[in-house]
Amino acid sequence: MRRVLIVGATSAIAEATVRHFAAAGDALFLIGRRVDRLQAIAADLGVRGATSVDFHSMDINDLDQHEPALAAAEKALGGIDTVLIAHGTLADQNACQHDPRLAIQELNTNAVSTIALLTPLANRFEKQRFGTLAVISSVAGDRGRESNYVYGSAKAALDAFLEGLRQRLHKAGVRVVTIKPGFVDTPMTAAFTKGILWTSPEQVSKRIYRSLNNSSDVIYTPFYWRYIMLIIRLMPRVIFKAIRL
Ligand SMILES: NC(=O)c1ccc[n+]([C@@H]2O[C@H](COP(=O)([O-])OP(=O)(O)OC[C@H]3O[C@@H](n4cnc5c(N)ncnc54)[C@H](OP(=O)(O)O)[C@@H]3O)[C@@H](O)[C@H]2O)c1
Repeated sequence: MRRVLIVGATSAIAEATVRHFAAAGDALFLIGRRVDRLQAIAADLGVRGATSVDFHSMDINDLDQHEPALAAAEKALGGIDTVLIAHGTLADQNACQHDPRLAIQELNTNAVSTIALLTPLANRFEKQRFGTLAVISSVAGDRGRESNYVYGSAKAALDAFLEGLRQRLHKAGVRVVTIKPGFVDTPMTAAFTKGILWTSPEQVSKRIYRSLNNSSDVIYTPFYWRYIMLIIRLMPRVIFKAIRL
């Protein structure tokens, strides 16, 4: 039985993923903002087979709440061995271009809050010398694009942080997994027109869950995004800056 902490537990991708943990009989601790949704998700996970499900409500940008939340998780679970961090917001790029405070808020939610939370978690895991820290980043972090470079730069910051953290914690036997979804049909992307490259939270959750049970460091989900982003990353700058993406 794993003792799993899920941050941003009301996210559609997190909810689909945590159902796999519940089916495996794991003990779960959910952190999110909306108590009503956390209650409903916890009840559902209990029915699906979780050994125990507790939850804690906080706004992830309130950094003073991180330590009490981690203490509550440790108390409820009797220690933590797996963490999935899933919260995020998809910035309105155009609005961010006209409002620096909004841009900073997006960077805080998508990067700073996660880095802040991973800092005490990393120290705990390094000390206990086991565990897995998995974080949902995005393919958007692979190269800044005009359509979403505020969100993309937050995810790129996260990617670099996770790469360094992985190198550090590898020596302590702790895994750090970077998860990079492509286009997923969730509340975050409700306003987008869906096309052939889109997938469901259930589909990506299978790959995320598998990655937590194998030795993956960085996963793209669906897998083909690894190749799409490779092409985008390799595109010469002289071409890249002239196109719309
Ligand atoms: N959907 C995609 O196409 C896609 C692609 C690549 C990466 N991702 C990443 O996947 C992750 C999950 O997103 P999703 O697609 O599942 O979207 P989602 O269903 O909209 O979930 C976003 C979650 O973030 C939470 N959140 C936002 N700001 C918060 C804050 N200040 N404090 C606490 N929680 C906060 C939301 O809480 P509330 O329920 O309270 O609003 C919600 O649970 C995100 O990191 C996202 O960047 C998504």
